[in-house]
Amino acid sequence: MSPLSLLSLSFLLLLPFFLPVSSSQPPKGVLIDCGATVGSVIGGREWLPDGDYVSAGVGKNLTIPVLVRTLSTVRTFPFRNNVGRKFCYDVPVYRQARYMVRTTYFYGGVNGRSSPPVFDQIVDGTLWGVVNTTEDYRKGNASYYEGVFKPKGKSMSVCLGVNSHTDSDPFISALEFVILGDSLYNTTKFDVNGLSLVARHSFGYSGPTIRYPDDPFDRFWEQYGENNYVIVSNSPPNVSRFWNWPPSKVFEAALSTDQPQSLELRWPPVSLQNASYYIALYFADTESRPTSTMLGININNVTYYRNLNVTPAGAAVFATSWPLIGNTKIILRPTSNSEISPLINAGEIFQVLELGGRTLTKDVIALEEIKKSLQNPPLDWNGDPCLPRQYRWTGVTCSEGTRIRVTTLNLTGLGLLGSVSPKIGNLTALTGIWLGNNRLSGKIPDLSSLKMLEILHLEDNKLSGEIPSSLGDNQKLREIFLQNNNLTGHIPDSLIGRKELNLT
Ligand SMILES: *[C@@H]1O[C@H](CO)[C@@H](O)[C@H](O)[C@H]1NC(C)=O
Ligand SMILES: *[C@@H]1O[C@H](CO)[C@@H](O)[C@H](O)[C@H]1NC(C)=O
Ligand SMILES: *[C@@H]1O[C@H](CO)[C@@H](O)[C@H](O)[C@H]1NC(C)=O
Ligand SMILES: *[C@@H]1O[C@H](CO)[C@@H](O)[C@H](O)[C@H]1NC(C)=O
Ligand SMILES: *[C@@H]1O[C@H](CO)[C@@H](O)[C@H](O)[C@H]1NC(C)=O
Ligand SMILES: *[C@@H]1O[C@H](CO)[C@@H](O)[C@H](O)[C@H]1NC(C)=O
Ligand SMILES: *[C@@H]1O[C@H](CO)[C@@H](O)[C@H](O)[C@H]1NC(C)=O
Ligand SMILES: *[C@@H]1O[C@H](CO)[C@@H](O)[C@H](O)[C@H]1NC(C)=O
Ligand SMILES: *[C@@H]1O[C@H](CO)[C@@H](O)[C@H](O)[C@H]1NC(C)=O
Ligand SMILES: *[C@@H]1O[C@H](CO)[C@@H](O)[C@H](O)[C@H]1NC(C)=O
Repeated sequence: MSPLSLLSLSFLLLLPFFLPVSSSQPPKGVLIDCGATVGSVIGGREWLPDGDYVSAGVGKNLTIPVLVRTLSTVRTFPFRNNVGRKFCYDVPVYRQARYMVRTTYFYGGVNGRSSPPVFDQIVDGTLWGVVNTTEDYRKGNASYYEGVFKPKGKSMSVCLGVNSHTDSDPFISALEFVILGDSLYNTTKFDVNGLSLVARHSFGYSGPTIRYPDDPFDRFWEQYGENNYVIVSNSPPNVSRFWNWPPSKVFEAALSTDQPQSLELRWPPVSLQNASYYIALYFADTESRPTSTMLGININNVTYYRNLNVTPAGAAVFATSWPLIGNTKIILRPTSNSEISPLINAGEIFQVLELGGRTLTKDVIALEEIKKSLQNPPLDWNGDPCLPRQYRWTGVTCSEGTRIRVTTLNLTGLGLLGSVSPKIGNLTALTGIWLGNNRLSGKIPDLSSLKMLEILHLEDNKLSGEIPSSLGDNQKLREIFLQNNNLTGHIPDSLIGRKELNLT
C-alpha cells in the first residue's frame, strides 16, 4: 500500500478548540463490583453489588488478600464446555450518551486451577475481543480492558463468552460505565464503530497511573517507562481546550531528547493485529523560547503530520482510522529550521471496531417476554439474542443480512417450567417452534400472527385449555405435535384437510 492511500483513509485534524469548563464532580455512570453482595464507597465513588445487573453465575470471595476492594470478589459463570455460550450484564444507560466501558479481571485462583481461563468479551452484538489475563496474573496484576461505545437502546450488555480456548469458568471482577463528554473522540462514528483501547500513556512521567480525580472521566494514563530525557513543566496548558480532555497532569512532564535530533518511540508497546486504529498524540511546549517547536511526525515510515507547531497552549494531532499491523515505530523529528528537541506528552491508541448490529427490537422484546414467562429460562438468555453470530442464545436461530430476525425456537427437553407467553406471536419470522418435552403449563397462545410458521411441537408438556381454532389461519403449518398434554378440543378442521399435514 502506498503512503498516499494510507493517508486518504484517514482524517488528520489539528487542535485545539474551545470547550466548556469541566467540573470537579465524580464522573457520572455506574460502577459495578462483580460478585459483591454489598456496595462500597471507594475514593468518594459508589460501587454497587452486581445482583441487579446479571442473572447467571455465582459470586465468589478470593481467598488471597488483595489491596483493592473491588478485586476481592468475582462473579464466575459455568463454562461446561459450552463453546458459543455467553453470560451477560445488562446495564441501563442513557441513549444519547457515549460511554467509556471498562472491564477488570483478577483471577485470584477462584477456579482452583493455577492459570486463569481465556474467554471472549462481547458488548451488545459485537465481539469486543479476547480476555487473556495469563501474563498479568502471573505478575500479580489485574487486567483491564477499556472501550468507548454508544448505546443502541435503553440498556447495554457486556458479556463473557466461552470460546474454544476456555478451560474453566469465565470470571469478572469489576464493570464500569462512565459517561464521556460529547466532544471526546467525537470524530468516530459511534453508530457503526466502537473503540477498544490498546494503550494510553503519559510520556516522560514516572508516577502511579494517572486517573480520577486528575482525569475527570477516570481514564487510566500509564507511565511509559522509557524516560531517557524528560522535560518538567510547572505551567501545563488549559486542557479544556482539547476535545479529548487529557488530564492536566500529563502535561507536567514530556519525553524529549537531549539534542535537536529525532525522538523514536516504540509505541504502542504491543504488536498490533491488522486493523484500523484511532490515534491521538498530545503535545505542549511550556518552555519559553524565541522560536516555537516545529515537529514532523512519522508512523512506520508514513508521514502522519508534516509541520506541527507545538506551542505552550498545546496541540493534539489525531487520526480516526489509521491502518496498522505488527510493531509500531513513531518518529518525531525537528523540522528543518528548528533547533529545538522534539517532545511528546501523551498518546492514546484504540482499535476501531466494526459494530455487529443488533437483532430487530420487536423480536428482542418478544423473547424477553417469553423469558419472563419461564421460571428457569436458559442461563445464556441475556444480551443480544442473535449476535455475535457464534454467540446466539440457546435454542434460537436467526436470519442473515442486516435485518436480523428470529427464525426458529428450539427449547426441546430443557426441563422448562412456566407458560408460553402470548408474545411469541410477535416473533413473526418464526418458521418452527419446538417446545416439546418440558413442563410447560397454561394455555396455547394465539399463534395466528405467525404467517411463516411451518412446524409446531408442543408435545409432552402440561399445557391445558382449548386447542386454539386460530391455528387454522396458519397457512404454511404442516407439522403439529400436541400429544401428552391436558388439552381439550381438537385440531381445527381447516388444518386436517390440508395436504401433507402431519398431525399427532
Ligand atoms: C464473601 O464474603 C462476604 C463478607 O465477608 C460474605 O458476606 C459472603 O457471604 C461471602 N461470599 C461467599 C460466596 O462466600
Ligand atoms: C494467553 O496469554 C499467554 C501469555 O501471554 C499465552 O502464552 C497464551 O498462548 C495465550 N492464550 C491464548 C489462548 O491466546
Ligand atoms: C504489574 O506488576 C509489576 C510487578 O509487580 C509492577 O511493577 C507494575 O507496576 C504492575 N503494573 C500495573 C499496571 O499494575
Ligand atoms: C467535536 O467537538 C468539538 C468541541 O465541542 C466541536 O467543535 C467539533 O465540531 C466536534 N466534532 C464533531 C465531528 O462532532
Ligand atoms: C480554561 O479555558 C476555559 C475555556 O476557555 C476557561 O473558561 C477557563 O477559565 C480556563 N481555565 C483556566 C484554569 O485558565
Ligand atoms: C490487512 O487487512 C487489509 C484489509 O482487511 C488487507 O487488505 C491487507 O492485505 C491485510 N494485510 C496483511 C499484511 O495481512
Ligand atoms: C522505513 O524506511 C527505511 C529506509 O527508507 C527502510 O529501510 C525500512 O525498512 C522502512 N521501514 C518500514 C517499517 O517500512
Ligand atoms: C432441537 O433441539 C434438540 C435438543 O438440543 C435437538 O436434539 C434437535 O435436533 C433440535 N431440533 C431441530 C429441528 O433443530
Ligand atoms: C406484540 O403483540 C401484542 C399482542 O400480543 C401486540 O399488542 C403488540 O403490538 C405487538 N408488539 C409489536 C412490537 O409488534
Ligand atoms: C386437566 O384439565 C382439567 C380441566 O381443564 C383439570 O380438571 C385436570 O385436573 C387437569 N389434569 C391434569 C393432570 O393436570
